[in-house]
Amino acid sequence: MATGKSDFPVANTRRYLEPGPIVLVSSVWRGETNIMTMGWHTVLEFVPSLVGCVIASGNHSFDLVRRSGECVINVPTTALTNKVVGIGNCSGASVDKFKKFRLTAEPAEEVGAPLIRECHANFECKLKDDRLVEQYNFFIFEVVKAHAARRPKYPQTLHYTGDGVFMVSGRIISRKSLFRPGML
Ligand SMILES: Cc1cc2nc3c(=O)[nH]c(=O)nc-3n(C[C@H](O)[C@H](O)[C@H](O)COP(=O)(O)O)c2cc1C
Repeated sequence: MATGKSDFPVANTRRYLEPGPIVLVSSVWRGETNIMTMGWHTVLEFVPSLVGCVIASGNHSFDLVRRSGECVINVPTTALTNKVVGIGNCSGASVDKFKKFRLTAEPAEEVGAPLIRECHANFECKLKDDRLVEQYNFFIFEVVKAHAARRPKYPQTLHYTGDGVFMVSGRIISRKSLFRPGML
């Protein structure tokens, strides 16, 4: 049982609810590419495959994604931890992040934004609904093409808890037998 609870600052809710995995969002507009680190995303629907996420309006990526209506959501593993932090702590307005962080831009199939080769998986996204962008910086994307490495089956992903601290995905457990088939 969870005992000994005390008041917890509501502003730190992310410590427990921020979902992860941390992703890298790549974008392009008129030949300029960029990458940002992102933790605030959520799956909204399976078919069509919809993902919602927050891209703050102060970020350079906001302009590129807003103008192009596209991005790629790339899933890094712990092998890229320092790059993930570095990319999330500088602006593409003044630095070419592919160059600075030595990442490889690969052409996507359905969108102009590049895939990041070093990431475990890449999800090509088209902006589906921008009705919440003005008020919440919340973009709803449809994943139109996905690429994922076959191995490892469960990559070691990063999950941000705030204050510079990450959890790393760990032990895999299955309860498949307890699920109704329609829930799998
Ligand atoms: C672990 C981590 C998670 C982040 N999550 C988000 C996020 O979900 N949304 C967001 O707008 N910025 C997020 N950021 C901040 C951006 O990555 C950061 O502002 C970045 O410099 C933006 O780059 P840009 O200006 O080149 O687009 C995060 C940063 C880190 C380090």
